[in-house]
Amino acid sequence: MAEDLWSDVAQTYDRSFASLCAGVAPELLVRLPAGAAVLDVGCGSGHVATALLSAGHPVAAVDPDPEMVALTRSRTGLEPTTGGLPDLPIADASADVVVASFVLNHVDHPRAAAAGLRRVMRPGGRVLATIWPGSPPPHGALWSAVLDAAGAVRPDLPRLAPELDFERSPDGLSGLLAGAGLEPVDACAPAWRWRVTPEGFWIGVTSVGNFGVTWRAQDDATRARIRAAYDASLTPWLDGDHLTFDVECVLVEAVRGSD
Ligand SMILES: C[S@@+](CC[C@H](N)C(=O)[O-])C[C@H]1O[C@@H](n2cnc3c(N)ncnc32)[C@H](O)[C@@H]1O
Repeated sequence: MAEDLWSDVAQTYDRSFASLCAGVAPELLVRLPAGAAVLDVGCGSGHVATALLSAGHPVAAVDPDPEMVALTRSRTGLEPTTGGLPDLPIADASADVVVASFVLNHVDHPRAAAAGLRRVMRPGGRVLATIWPGSPPPHGALWSAVLDAAGAVRPDLPRLAPELDFERSPDGLSGLLAGAGLEPVDACAPAWRWRVTPEGFWIGVTSVGNFGVTWRAQDDATRARIRAAYDASLTPWLDGDHLTFDVECVLVEAVRGSD
């Protein structure tokens, strides 16, 4: 299911979409009390943890994928824990601040995952959670046009059953966290400009997540046409030697009340 897509992609994620996800780090940082200890759940390859450490926050990190854990270790010097939501190998009520950045949109059981976040938060603690909104992002539109131009097949993509899913919006994420017994105190849509090299983008769309599922469904001839269509599509997106995309996510801040 959705979580399985995170096996064997740590290196390519790190070279592609990690810089996209890291763009929200400034929005996370401004919401943190100075010096607050942070548990980074689903830490990926450690870009957000790096930003947190640079801003003076003690950080603990956890991710279910051993390669992600290894990348975070080498990038930050932290000793991340291997484990995932909903049953994090973290003590009850132990975290002052939990960051779950672009994680709840990738889990198989979002409600159970939200409850797993709450369990590790101390009463009075807060969580900062981000997801991607439901509308297609600009880089998704570019890639979709490339696939169409190349006549690519569109495989069925892994989707959560409707009864497990939640709306990918500020209200939807707030509702998910509220359903787990947390109190949303802010919901917003931070925006930033993602700059990525054409080769970095290519590495991501040919390996990570649903992009990778679609790529793996193509035969060699179609893959060659996709590459040609991609190379022919870049100019409008280039600023110097980087592609630039104006992206937006959903960020919700929620607190755990006293029990
Ligand atoms: C899009 S990446 C985000 C990584 C990081 N937070 C960042 O912003 O770069 C999603 C991460 O969630 C992790 N993940 C997948 N299933 C998870 C689960 N059940 N609990 C915690 N993390 C999970 C993946 O291994 C991956 O590192």
